[in-house]
Amino acid sequence: MTAFSPRSESSDLIGREQELRELEEWFAKPSGPLVIWGQGGLGKTALAREFGKSKATLFVDVTTATSFDHVLVAIGEAAKLGYDEAATLLGLQQALLTRKIELLVIDNIEQLGEEIATLPRLTSLASHVMFTSRLLTGFPLETQLALQPLPIAPNWSSAAILLLLREAAIDPSTMAEGENLALYSKIAAVTDGIPLALGLAAIQISKVGAALTASQLEDSLLDLPNEASDRPTRQRTMDESIDWSWRFLGADDQRAVLSLSLFASTFTFEDALEAL
Ligand SMILES: Nc1ncnc2c1ncn2[C@@H]1O[C@H](COP(=O)(O)OP(=O)(O)O)[C@@H](O)[C@H]1O
Ligand SMILES: [Mg+2]
Repeated sequence: MTAFSPRSESSDLIGREQELRELEEWFAKPSGPLVIWGQGGLGKTALAREFGKSKATLFVDVTTATSFDHVLVAIGEAAKLGYDEAATLLGLQQALLTRKIELLVIDNIEQLGEEIATLPRLTSLASHVMFTSRLLTGFPLETQLALQPLPIAPNWSSAAILLLLREAAIDPSTMAEGENLALYSKIAAVTDGIPLALGLAAIQISKVGAALTASQLEDSLLDLPNEASDRPTRQRTMDESIDWSWRFLGADDQRAVLSLSLFASTFTFEDALEAL
């Protein structure tokens, strides 16, 4: 059985009402581009897609682009344009205008490296341009939406509900098992409310049950399975997701993260200063 089936993928967004309201506020009065940013697996893409559903949206994944020109090509492909139309910014502008695109979403810009600085030029392409990124961008006039993990408390938190729904999509008999509720809340808490980790935990529950999953996760989130094989590599395991982010860090930042890894869980700013 495919763990991340179309059915589980298409389930509605859980617990992002406030974020959707913030996006609507920006949409009503955009003063520049909007950037949804945060670590891998937090739900940046899912949020942008959900928001785009009610708009005339062009959604462009630039995961494999390494230059501004690649980004233009990716936009052209997403809009199903001929090569000539897509070759220049002006050509794209005309084409998107003709198609009445009101929201352009450029997903996964973090791996463009220094080329990220060229992306504000895309704001001429549509009245609303949105980016998702694992890194802070600092574009002129940008509105930032720093995405947070889903709440893991109280007991029936958004994170626990997402876990239950994901697991139920894999194994429909789950919904009846009321005695598992406490375990689901416990597992949700260990994932820190990261939707990607919740999805992986749901796969594990469907294989070994909630009780065993909860005790396995007491050791490490990295033990979650690697069987979400229809996801991009960087989203198959928490390990690969962290790896993807790790390679964008410079040597100093990598050293800092290593020093902070001595904390098993959350820590304060003062604790961090002491550790560094
Ligand atoms: N609020 C949410 N409710 C339900 N599923 C979610 C939510 N946020 C993310 N997901 C799911 O979690 C997984 C990771 O989310 P994704 O948007 O790909 O993360 P990101 O783009 O931040 O790396 C996807 O399967 C996505 O559908
Ligand atoms: Mg994404």
